Amino acid sequence: MPKDKKTILTGDRPTGNLHLGHYVGSLANRVKLQQEYESYIIIADVQALTTHWEKDENLSRDVYQIVSDYLAVGIDPEISTIFVQSMIPEIHELTMYYSLFTTVNVLRHNPTIKTEAAQHGMNDMTYGFLGYPVSQAADITIFKADLVPVGEDQIPHIELARKIVRRFNDLYQPVLVEPQVLLGDVPRLVGMDGKEKMSKSLNNAIFLADDAQQVKEKVGNAVTDPARIRKSDPGHPEICTVYAYHQVFNLNELEEIEQACRQGKIGCVECKKRMAGKINELLDPMRERRQKYLDKPELLRDILMEGTKKAHRAAKETMLEVRTAMKINYF
Ligand code: TRP
Repeated sequence: MPKDKKTILTGDRPTGNLHLGHYVGSLANRVKLQQEYESYIIIADVQALTTHWEKDENLSRDVYQIVSDYLAVGIDPEISTIFVQSMIPEIHELTMYYSLFTTVNVLRHNPTIKTEAAQHGMNDMTYGFLGYPVSQAADITIFKADLVPVGEDQIPHIELARKIVRRFNDLYQPVLVEPQVLLGDVPRLVGMDGKEKMSKSLNNAIFLADDAQQVKEKVGNAVTDPARIRKSDPGHPEICTVYAYHQVFNLNELEEIEQACRQGKIGCVECKKRMAGKINELLDPMRERRQKYLDKPELLRDILMEGTKKAHRAAKETMLEVRTAMKINYF
């Protein structure tokens, strides 16, 4: 039966608060597209355990934290389906079937796996960690997703999912859909320290849950052009972290700020103040929405349970087709 709407699937590992990098990389797209697409958002708790299996004590807190981040940015639980990965056993079953024809070498060469293994100091990768992109392919394809809004680091995983779909459809029956990546307007946002990527583990992030004062302090400590000591020193916006943020969050004043910086007419303090103001303008409505859920944990729980039930139904349907295609249907 042809679907009347195309499907989106995307999600995150629950490993702490979401930040501005997540917002411009993927969350903004999810909010924008949720009316137009059937949208599924996966909270990838099992994937989080591939690096944190010994530290499971915060898992439940982190799952609820991410639900409140989603609701705060404007994901509407009436139209988007938010669910938990571990509660859909069919995803794990499908992962096993995909792993039958996915080679270890392909996984070893995945650049995101390599970077993360190095980041976590793994010299001997676990089977589960090396294989999580296979599980991610199952996350995506079990919902027959057409589109996956993610940041740049996820591209190798979506590429793998596409390969797996082609292979499966060719080996068995053409039941799966090849997903496409949708990158955000800013696929990678630099951190407050000017390092290449905003990230919780690099300790350079502005979180969506930060209050106005925290934002001011973080922007105040951001790295700028080291050649500028006095306000009158001509600046070099192209190497300044705060300018990089103006390029994303303050297009209206961009030209004026660039010129004033080059001519030594605006100081870093003033420039940072305007930036913090812009970020707080963006976060204010999120703070308001978050407030509504803050003292209603049972509401978050209901949203998650309903979403998980709905996702489970959809996953079961695909698995019937998958098993039939693979002739795993004996009685
Ligand atoms: N790998 C993603 C991350 O690190 C999380 C994720 C799990 C995901 N399954 C997914 C993203 C499916 C998109 C689609 O944030």
